[in-house]
Amino acid sequence: MQIFIDSAKLEEIKEAYNAGILDGVTTNPSLIKKAVEEIKKRGDGIDMEDYIKEILKTAHNARVSLEVTEYIYDKMVEQGRKLFKMFNPAAKNVYIKIPANPSFEGEKGKEFDGLRAIKTLSQEGIPVNCTLVFTPEQALLAAKAGAKIVSPFAGRIDDYLRTKNNIAFDKSDYYPADGKNDLNDNGIVSGIDLVRQIAEIFKKHSIEAEVLAASIRNTRQAREAALAGADIATLPFEVIKELLAHYKTREGMRSFTDDAIPEYVNLTKGRN
Ligand code: E4P
Repeated sequence: MQIFIDSAKLEEIKEAYNAGILDGVTTNPSLIKKAVEEIKKRGDGIDMEDYIKEILKTAHNARVSLEVTEYIYDKMVEQGRKLFKMFNPAAKNVYIKIPANPSFEGEKGKEFDGLRAIKTLSQEGIPVNCTLVFTPEQALLAAKAGAKIVSPFAGRIDDYLRTKNNIAFDKSDYYPADGKNDLNDNGIVSGIDLVRQIAEIFKKHSIEAEVLAASIRNTRQAREAALAGADIATLPFEVIKELLAHYKTREGMRSFTDDAIPEYVNLTKGRN
């Protein structure tokens, strides 16, 4: 499974990239807002175009998703084309994020705008990551329209199930993937179940689009996304760091360091 970082913070992207394990970056308007607010809070200015180019160059060889903010077909396509033209030359690694169904106000006649935009951009050779996927059906249609990546939002489905059922939770709380608690959203028992169902359908029907498990909030969910067959998981920086953490690793490090005797440590000193 590939690992992406879910962040627009340059320092985080640099650190993850320098660790040598990063396959990509996902951004969205909220993540960009967070990153820019932090920069402004420090009293620094920002040139958005240069900043995004810096992200792309930092993450060269890794794929970077940039999301449209428009939600009407023509405008999404226009913005998607412009973003791609403006930023892809920097490191040839841009994917354009288009929502599965952008009719957030439930306007009639706009339900297909996302699919149409995915189709148009894909036909022009612009790789699309279909975002805000909450059902296998949306994933299937997005792939059919030409999306190279589909992004089921695991954590947000868990939020939805818990909120609907008056279960108190923190954003990073683990939520069981097994559905033993009998809650479901039209047959989806958890965010990881959503990822699993999409991965199974894609495998069964030889659909080439990659399944990107998004909205992952803890390490157990990341592991379960891998078990569920996700091709990619996008993780917040804190979760990426947590993947390496274990009490026994820290304890072992302490004892091996304390036990290092000079006869052994000095063996390699002064040698080439
Ligand atoms: C993915 O592309 C999204 O940016 C992201 O994973 C959303 O995560 P959240 O639900 O934690 O905001």
